[in-house]
Amino acid sequence: MAFPDGFGWGAATAAYQVEGGWDADGKGPSVWDTFTHQGGERVFKNQTGDVACGSYTLWEEDLKCIKQLGLTHYRFSLSWSRLLPDGTTGFINQKGVDYYNKIIDDLLENGIKPIVTLFHFDLPQALEDKGGWLSETIIESFDKYAQFCFRTFGDRVKLWITLNEPNMFALMAYDLGRFPPGVPHLGTGGYQAAHNLIKAHARSWHSYDSLFRKEQKGLVSLSFFIAWAEPADPNSASDQEAAKRVMAFHLDLFAKPIFTDGDYPEGVKSQIAAMSTKQGYASSRLPEFTEEEKKMIKGTGDFFAVQYYTTCLARLKENKKGELGALYDAEVEISTDPSWVNLDWVYVVPWGIRKILKYVKETYNNPAIYITENGFPHSDLTSLDDTQRWEYFRQIFQELLKGIQLDEVNLKVYCAWSLLDNFEWTQGYSSRFGFFHVDFEDPARPRVPYSSAKEYAKVIRNNGLEGQK
Ligand code: GAL
Repeated sequence: MAFPDGFGWGAATAAYQVEGGWDADGKGPSVWDTFTHQGGERVFKNQTGDVACGSYTLWEEDLKCIKQLGLTHYRFSLSWSRLLPDGTTGFINQKGVDYYNKIIDDLLENGIKPIVTLFHFDLPQALEDKGGWLSETIIESFDKYAQFCFRTFGDRVKLWITLNEPNMFALMAYDLGRFPPGVPHLGTGGYQAAHNLIKAHARSWHSYDSLFRKEQKGLVSLSFFIAWAEPADPNSASDQEAAKRVMAFHLDLFAKPIFTDGDYPEGVKSQIAAMSTKQGYASSRLPEFTEEEKKMIKGTGDFFAVQYYTTCLARLKENKKGELGALYDAEVEISTDPSWVNLDWVYVVPWGIRKILKYVKETYNNPAIYITENGFPHSDLTSLDDTQRWEYFRQIFQELLKGIQLDEVNLKVYCAWSLLDNFEWTQGYSSRFGFFHVDFEDPARPRVPYSSAKEYAKVIRNNGLEGQK
């Protein structure tokens, strides 16, 4: 029941979800500041991350939690507009630099490795005003920001995630418009953003590779949201095709260019092109990479970062009316099994993670895999006893062990989401993913461990499930 020696155990957070201090010490506004301040019930009870867990001033409390768990890795994100208030290196906010320096130094002093995300959904508003991820100019802006971070923190940070879940982000922010800037561009915006996100990642990877790697010796990659898709009927050839399509549209569309050959999957390209023709577009709604761009994009991931929460069932469904939207292009109907327990959008299917690890191994040439997020919300908001939730984690760890031992996947690190209860995007504070409860009514924002925190600490101490039932 033991994990390989040196296996990494972490927990993750993200700047906007925990920091607060939204305008403290010269921080510029991000799109999430704008979006939440506009109200309009797009976020649960119009809640905001203005204060959140207060981690901007309470970092030392977070460190206590991290030490209590005994984490070997801590994953957090940098707020771009805290460092560069207008998104450009024209003005650097030293107070922001100091804040992250302190976090990094404290972690290292305690033997904890930082995994640092450069972009976790909170674009500086000033860059959104110039078109955000829909505009090609973002590529240069992101690369400059990334270089600034490598230069400033890279002497100590060795594990970088450029973009958090670009696949989920492009869909939510620019196709559906449910995340800021909040304007839907059904069927076009998601792909346009995807195109720029992929190029921006690749550019910054090259910057690291040519300017910093030799000296800093770190690794740079990006993390994907991966929901496993299972055929609704495992014996149906058409359902099998449906499940493959879901993986292709949601994961491979982003991962194949970066980890394989610089280009989108053929099946996805032809499907979107055909659908676009049917809808009267002169060309495909999915942009094309030039040959030069393909060369630039190919091979720009130093490890494969997986974020797993949920699984779905897939069945083909013709888009007869030609409905517009990235979610309709695959012509697949998504459902879930009535026997699966769910907490909001998370269906508890521990075996889905093993299937994903195997899929990544087989599709992407056995890369080193880091799980940079996985978790479940706590169902009972009134209790610190989350025994039930811990049972889900335990089952996940068993599946990881099967993946490592039976499928021989090269899994290096596991990070749970999340260290703390936090601002869960459009769900505000109604969804609790932390190992530590945070009281958002109390100005002191006390952190109190759930029962699962003790259990996770035990797993980390034993490097596995040893001694547990
Ligand atoms: C992920 C996201 C995290 C967190 C998590 C749980 O998609 O990266 O920031 O919110 O979902 O909802």
